[in-house]
Amino acid sequence: MTDWWQGAVFYQVYPRSFADSDGDGIGDIQGIIGRLDHLRGAPDSLGVDAIWLSPVYPSPQVDFGYDVANYTDVDPVFGTLADMDRLIDECHERGLRILLDLVPCHTSDQHPWFHASRSSLSDPHRDWYVWADAAPDGGPPNNWTAVFGGPAWTLDATTGQYFAHTFYPHQPQLNWRNPAMAQAVHAAMRFWLARGIDGFRVDAIQAAVKDERLRDNPPAGPPDRWFPRLDSDFTAQEHLWDLDRPEVHDVVRGLRRVADEYGALLVGELYAPLERLAAYLAGGGREEFQLAFNFELLHATWRRDSLALAIERSEALHPAGTWPTYALSNHDQSRHASRFGRHRARAAAFLLLTLRGAPFLYAGEEIGMVDAPASAMPGHDRAGRDPQRTPMQWDASAGGGFTAGAPWLPLADPDVVNVEAQRGDPDSLLSFYRRLIRARKTSRALATGEHRSIFGLDADALAFIREADQERVLVALNVGDAPCRLDLSQWARSLMRLVGTHAAPASHTEMDPRSVELRPLEGVCLRID
Ligand code: BGC
Repeated sequence: MTDWWQGAVFYQVYPRSFADSDGDGIGDIQGIIGRLDHLRGAPDSLGVDAIWLSPVYPSPQVDFGYDVANYTDVDPVFGTLADMDRLIDECHERGLRILLDLVPCHTSDQHPWFHASRSSLSDPHRDWYVWADAAPDGGPPNNWTAVFGGPAWTLDATTGQYFAHTFYPHQPQLNWRNPAMAQAVHAAMRFWLARGIDGFRVDAIQAAVKDERLRDNPPAGPPDRWFPRLDSDFTAQEHLWDLDRPEVHDVVRGLRRVADEYGALLVGELYAPLERLAAYLAGGGREEFQLAFNFELLHATWRRDSLALAIERSEALHPAGTWPTYALSNHDQSRHASRFGRHRARAAAFLLLTLRGAPFLYAGEEIGMVDAPASAMPGHDRAGRDPQRTPMQWDASAGGGFTAGAPWLPLADPDVVNVEAQRGDPDSLLSFYRRLIRARKTSRALATGEHRSIFGLDADALAFIREADQERVLVALNVGDAPCRLDLSQWARSLMRLVGTHAAPASHTEMDPRSVELRPLEGVCLRID
């Protein structure tokens, strides 16, 4: 039996920027409900199968919701619990599943748990967070650095101890060695699962457990392909003692036990080479996460060899019986239409939606949204991620159809790309995403088939065969800026075109396997026998 998520197409909704229903310039749940037909349930819907909602919990918004002040409520800026219940129902009525964002490694410093914990050394919640005495010189307990810069420790004057934080100081580190704390997070999971959600995207899970002896991290090794060395405090050390600790797997197994009570999906967010990610898919995806974010493609450059390596690593390093994921963009990363160039957005989407695995789309990529100019951003996010978080562009109006008020972030370019202009245009990027997602619905080979790469065709050609039951689909993409001609006769006696990035060429007749022409950035899916 195939699980619902195998073959599913996922779509990340960044609530703050998706649709604003009350004119305050900030997206909200009612706004999302009003736009669900864009995703599924109408004849011209995109046709995705599930949404992942970034956090809508009460939060001071220092890290835009990833600093949670209450795990079992909705921040008034986004709406109410009743709104969330309605969103869940409206999704399910459309056959759309909904994942919330579970942020288990830290809370906001405004969470009541942390208020109690920092109040005194003897408070029952003290050990729900990671506290330690100062080093002999009065400084932080060790040399760990935080993702957003500076030490990963902050001195708390009330009790004279330091508390740990992997990210901002406003995000104190929860202590997963404390069973009462673990049970409280599990209870929060059950609160939402009982309301009908279909699972969680699990935030920054590698950070869940810290070395008990608080050992210093060593300096970073030589720059490697995986983590291009940003010159930041964080990347200047190897995070051996504060990330990816073996005990994290016990935490994940605990989360999975709760998810399994409801048959729910867990998607782990893991910024790690696949060699390390594989362990989080233990037991063929039955013991820890069913899915985990695979960022190989997201970190690739737009060159055939870089893309091919990302694909081969994904195929070779996902354990047998597990289902990969792919993503090109999300709320933390520069949009791929900016990274690769807008003219490559269609070719990139073609790859994302034909590879073996669960594709995760990021709101706006389906119309080719790019990063807004950093110079136009107010700098709300101290980590500089505003450009990729600008409001969704529904139409060409000044507010982009996102809000009738003043948007919390300036829109990028609604006059250039927007849903309204593309919805009815068969040649638009949006229509291409819709066509390709539909093709996956009618082709088991594309949706859940096996993958076998083909090399040696052309320096700029990516090609692979997807196969399921008796159906074989050959996928070929010219990533270059010049035409190329492929001889596919070794793999196919005859070809039938299923879907492609470009309209079939005027001279399109029965394609000759010995000579398949691809225009620059052209991709085709060919049913072969
Ligand atoms: C989220 C970021 C957030 C960080 C801390 C990441 O996984 O995607 O947006 O800043 O975790 O919660």
